[in-house]
Amino acid sequence: MAKQVLAYIIFRMNKPLENSQLNLADLGSVTWETFRVINASRRAVRHFDGMPISDEVVLAVLAEAQLAPSSKNLQPYCFHWIKDARVHEAIAATCRNQRAAKSASTLIVVSANSAYGLRTLNGWEAHVEQTDTLDDKSKAYHRQELNLCRRFDRISRLWLWEPLMVLISWLYPMLDLLPVGPSRTRHWVARNSLYAAQTLLLAAAASGLDSCPMEGFSARQVARLLKLPRGSAVPLVIALGRRMPNARIEPRWRVPLEQVVVVH
Ligand SMILES: Cc1cc2nc3c(=O)[nH]c(=O)nc-3n(C[C@H](O)[C@H](O)[C@H](O)COP(=O)(O)O)c2cc1C
Repeated sequence: MAKQVLAYIIFRMNKPLENSQLNLADLGSVTWETFRVINASRRAVRHFDGMPISDEVVLAVLAEAQLAPSSKNLQPYCFHWIKDARVHEAIAATCRNQRAAKSASTLIVVSANSAYGLRTLNGWEAHVEQTDTLDDKSKAYHRQELNLCRRFDRISRLWLWEPLMVLISWLYPMLDLLPVGPSRTRHWVARNSLYAAQTLLLAAAASGLDSCPMEGFSARQVARLLKLPRGSAVPLVIALGRRMPNARIEPRWRVPLEQVVVVH
């Protein structure tokens, strides 16, 4: 029975899962155990065999990563899939030639930019207007939300926010994360992209790939190499591949759960 359920999940994973009728509660503990295995198997691997990964597998992993949540569904990020060997070498050099980057089969650079958020808004607006999968009430709601987002974007991109926010966040440090002004908006798009990055790491693990998220790189050099648009943030470079049998992976350690979970 468990095998059949797993086979069904795998079958569904190769289909678009949006609007899926699959009710995970019906599958009992199987999905939970599957998730735990995937989550446990995801480790930061720093020594890969460098063997090629099929485009199909990489694309499938990226497609899963794109299902990650983002604020207002704005998806303000791009995955730069580094397939060219020379670009790979150059990006690895910007990662201080870390072995994870050099030995990876491929690299994914995660970039974020408020311009990508605007791209999403335009695409979503066009979709709302032409789709027949949304009723009039939903369309009216989304038009209102779109207007709100555009208005917020126009106001938040003003440079005036920069000095204002220094003062405001000095008085009220909790407000420091508000996405107003160019630099805080950049932080916000970067934060949003990291949900997709983490989903990518789990999707890679689920597909039998190893990964290493890296922030030890020169964002300036990466941006120049990939000709990223002005205002981009580069939160993460991800090494993908399969671990060498002798890859050094230390036993996992985490802060005791009771220090992390605060019950109120
Ligand atoms: C934001 C971020 C940046 C990281 N940067 C690097 C890095 O530059 N080089 C590296 O070898 N590992 C890097 N790591 C991997 C962490 O060291 C690793 O996730 C952590 O030690 C826990 O190990 P685990 O992922 O195997 O559970 C990074 C992880 C994160 C989330």
